[in-house]
Amino acid sequence: MTLSAIEVNNLKQAPAVQGVLPVVHQRWSARSFSARDVSQADLARVFEAARWAASSSNEQPWRFIVGVRNSLTHNKIFSTLVGFNKAWAGSAPVLILGVANTVFTHNGTPNTYAMYDLGAASSYLTLEAAALGLTTHQMAGYDHDAARQVLDIPESYALGSVIALGYQGEPADLANEQLIAREIAPRERKPLKELVFTAWGEPANLA
Ligand SMILES: Cc1cc2nc3c(=O)[nH]c(=O)nc-3n(C[C@H](O)[C@H](O)[C@H](O)COP(=O)(O)O)c2cc1C
Repeated sequence: MTLSAIEVNNLKQAPAVQGVLPVVHQRWSARSFSARDVSQADLARVFEAARWAASSSNEQPWRFIVGVRNSLTHNKIFSTLVGFNKAWAGSAPVLILGVANTVFTHNGTPNTYAMYDLGAASSYLTLEAAALGLTTHQMAGYDHDAARQVLDIPESYALGSVIALGYQGEPADLANEQLIAREIAPRERKPLKELVFTAWGEPANLA
């Protein structure tokens, strides 16, 4: 017996702190996806959200390669995943690769904030997805060289994460016990005192 999708979703919500955006509490990274497809309209919405992230010099260095189930691009992205991720991510109806242009287009100099900006856009994407009742799961576990090759990514673009997108599925549908255990495990975070300082190592008084 494992937990149902609804029970796990309740368990994974971050503790509600008053005033924090509800989607921040709602977003978590599922590995079990249902068979339900993501509509074109919702797909457009998540990328629209990403589009409005801030970026250094408003470069908007992010590019997203999107593959929907049974497409060549979905197959290509899936083929690059490491074994652990292959064990679950293939059932996601959408796989996305995020990349970032590491060169500023206005003057050709290096954009050292390109990955930072891609991360920001990706966060917007994941939060919009959560607001739409979708789940996302970002992955660093893929063969970057293979992804660059099969997806024809230019050299000047750095590779970010692969993002699985879809509707949360039943934990029991995952391929093995290890994945089920991770799916139903509570989420963990460091306390604010380890993250926010007034001087290095001195926790800010936020309470
Ligand atoms: C950049 C990045 C890379 C990640 N890589 C993987 C991965 O390869 N495989 C995986 O199962 N989860 C991966 N994750 C998911 C994290 O493990 C997860 O976000 C973290 O445990 C926090 O859980 P939460 O997203 O549910 O809050 C990755 C997340 C990020 C942001």
